[in-house]
Amino acid sequence: MLALIGGTGFEEEGIITDAEEIEVDTPWGKPAAPLIIGKLGGVPLIFLRRHGVKHEFAPHVIPYRANIWALKAAGAEGIIAVGTVGGIGEALSAGTLMVPDQILDYTWGREHTYFDSPEAGVKHIDFTYPFDQGLSQALIRAARRSGHGVVEGGVYATTQGPRLESAAEVRRFQRDGANVIGMTLYPECALAREIDLPYGALCVSVNSAAGLRESHRKIEFESLKEIVDRGVRAAVDVVREAL
Ligand code: HPA
Repeated sequence: MLALIGGTGFEEEGIITDAEEIEVDTPWGKPAAPLIIGKLGGVPLIFLRRHGVKHEFAPHVIPYRANIWALKAAGAEGIIAVGTVGGIGEALSAGTLMVPDQILDYTWGREHTYFDSPEAGVKHIDFTYPFDQGLSQALIRAARRSGHGVVEGGVYATTQGPRLESAAEVRRFQRDGANVIGMTLYPECALAREIDLPYGALCVSVNSAAGLRESHRKIEFESLKEIVDRGVRAAVDVVREAL
C-alpha cells in the first residue's frame, strides 16, 4: 500500500473516500494529523495531511520524523508526496506540475534524521538520487495519461520558510541550478530513505518565485487559493492515475 502526503490545498474533505481516521503515536511524537486510511479512485491508500488538520504546522515545525515513521508503521510501502512550489523560469509558471529528480537543502535546525543519538548509532544513507525513480516514473506516466502537462525532472530547492524568499535569494537558487522552490520535501525524502521507504514527489507550481516576471509585485500567498485549488485537483488526478 502507498501513502500520500498532501500539503497546502489538501485540507478539503472528500479527496479520500471510505475514510477511517486513526490516531497514532511514534517514538518521535505524534504526526501532524491522524492518518486517514481510505481509498483514492478505488485504490486503498494511507493519507496524511503534512501541515495538520487545519494547516496549523508551519513548514519549519512540521513533525517530519513522526510523520514519516507513522506512515511506515501503518504499513506504507512507499510515499507519494505532493507539495506546492514557486517556479523558476517560464517552463514552471503557475499551474505547472513537475516531478523533481534532485533536491537542494537550504533549511536549518530541522529534525532531519533518525540517527542522532548514541543509541541509534550513525547511518550515512546514499542520497545521490533523493527521489525513488520507480515512483517518479509512475507519476510522469500518470500525468501524461491524464492529460496534464508535467515537467519531467528538475531541482527542488528547500527553503526554511515560513516567509517567502527575497529576489536575491531566488537569483542565488537559480544560479545553484534550482527549478522550483518549496519548503517541505526536505527532510521528508531523507527520512524516508533512512527507513527504506521509496519516496516520489509531485510539485504544483502556484506562483513565479519572488522577483521573477509578475512576481516583481508582492506575492500574496493567501490570494493564490484558486490556483492552489486547481493545481491540487490536477495533482490528485495524477496520483489517482498513478495508483
Ligand atoms: N517559495 C517557497 N515555497 C513556495 C512558494 C515560493 O515561492 N510557492 C509555494 N510554495
